[in-house]
Amino acid sequence: MNSENIAHYLSDISAKVNEYIENNLLVSKGELSQNLCEAVRYSALAGGKRIRPALCIITAQVFGFSSEAVMRAACAFEFIHTYSLIHDDLPAMDNDDYRRGKLTNHKIYGEATAILAGDALLTLAFEWLSDLTNYGISSDKAIRIISIAAKASGSMGMIGGQMLDLESENNKIDLIAIEKIHKAKTGALIIAPTLTGAILAGATDEEIDVLRDYSEKIGLLFQIADDILDVEGDAQKMGKAIGKDKVLGKATFPAILGIKDSHIYAQKIREQALNILSKLTLQTDKLEQLAGFFISRKN
Ligand code: IPE
Ligand code: IPE
Ligand code: MG
Ligand code: MG
Ligand code: MG
Repeated sequence: MNSENIAHYLSDISAKVNEYIENNLLVSKGELSQNLCEAVRYSALAGGKRIRPALCIITAQVFGFSSEAVMRAACAFEFIHTYSLIHDDLPAMDNDDYRRGKLTNHKIYGEATAILAGDALLTLAFEWLSDLTNYGISSDKAIRIISIAAKASGSMGMIGGQMLDLESENNKIDLIAIEKIHKAKTGALIIAPTLTGAILAGATDEEIDVLRDYSEKIGLLFQIADDILDVEGDAQKMGKAIGKDKVLGKATFPAILGIKDSHIYAQKIREQALNILSKLTLQTDKLEQLAGFFISRKN
């Protein structure tokens, strides 16, 4: 499968995820505030590549498993991710006006509502994960997944990484420190849906270990590519501003290694990811191609 095919495959998955979210996210449940509902749906349905749900769905597929439970878990990770973006864009953080080709949540609904919309998405994600038991998943598996999602989202995962990202602004940091930031702020929410897909599908502990190592690599890769795109990307295609990392003095790979070496480093991480994957005696071609897509992506 070449990169065009995987892009096509991902866009198929993203259409299904969009449809599921459209039909199931805060619809006719008598929510307290219509405005909050609108703000949540605005960001959750604003597009986005749906990489995290795709990882959950594709990993489950690798083990031959598909079920509505996979889609619901996949969407839960997208909700956590979308919440992280709403908050990341706030004036108190990266102060961005555009996301997914549209005005950022706070630009439309105001900061207070944007904060609450993010909170609502995070909470809803855990509601959906705990509801997996209503979709044929054992309580043991559901609790294991909830624990993985909580750790990946919290102070040892995405939130911890976001804090380090802010604390590193305008500081000189080294490669070890930046890898730590990227693995936390972005990697944690790439690893968690991958493991979730595997757990839902009944993977063995050995297989889960391999997938953890693999997704740790591609999580890092994903954020290196994001840093590179902030320098070389096209704002129109990406649906968000470029050049902001330099303005904010962010700790990025291009800032530390330069742009050329960042590309070389990304390729090296991709090769490591592929080597790890080769330990699985399963049909992993889509996961292999994903690692390539993460580098070659233009948005
Ligand atoms: C952007 O994530 C923020 C990072 C963690 C790099 P994505 O590039 O996955 O954003 P969407 O979901 O496609 O908008
Ligand atoms: C964001 O990283 C990571 C998150 C946890 C949201 P960035 O700040 O680099 O993401 P973009 O470039 O705004 O999408
Ligand atoms: Mg940020
Ligand atoms: Mg940002
Ligand atoms: Mg960025």
